[in-house]
Amino acid sequence: MEHTEVVKPETLNDLIKTLHNIFESDSVNVEEVQAIMESYESKPQEWMKYAKFDQYRYTRNLVDEGNGKFNLMILCWGEGHGSSIHDHTNSHCFMKLLQGQLKETLFEWPEGKSHGDMVQKSQRILQENKVAYINDNIGLHRVENVSHTECAASLHLYSPPFQTCQTFDQRTGHRSTVKMTFWSKFGERTPFETTISQENN
Ligand SMILES: [Fe+2]
Repeated sequence: MEHTEVVKPETLNDLIKTLHNIFESDSVNVEEVQAIMESYESKPQEWMKYAKFDQYRYTRNLVDEGNGKFNLMILCWGEGHGSSIHDHTNSHCFMKLLQGQLKETLFEWPEGKSHGDMVQKSQRILQENKVAYINDNIGLHRVENVSHTECAASLHLYSPPFQTCQTFDQRTGHRSTVKMTFWSKFGERTPFETTISQENN
């Protein structure tokens, strides 16, 4: 495995530059990406312009398109907001807590013919500045801000970028394909798009 000395990024822009360099290579070193994202200390003044909250559900806000190699976005979670159970379309998914806490629940992929409750593997609370990693081999997950008093913001990197994913019904394991949309791009609210379903991951 190639070893690269990484310098701690002092700002979000530094982090983005470093990520561009790392992802120029065709192979992704998961531990390296996780370490570099974790070493950035979240400073709200650097990412606030991207953090646009909605009253009713969590939002996906595009920060950087990573030269086509990855999508970097900030998800904004109001009190009690949560995602459905979803997969990651064969991509790498890194999730760093910028503010607040999020609960991540891992599930096994439903068996072909199973119709019962989905099997829960584990659960954890992600703390500020920590980075979680998941891909489809690890399983499926649901992410929630369970706090009734604090909002949360998280920085997500997906590589390669993807536009649809599958969501799963916890009671039946039934799956649906959903298109994902952005609430804002590069700090600007995106025009309203008509979509059948707006789901996130
Ligand atoms: Fe996810």
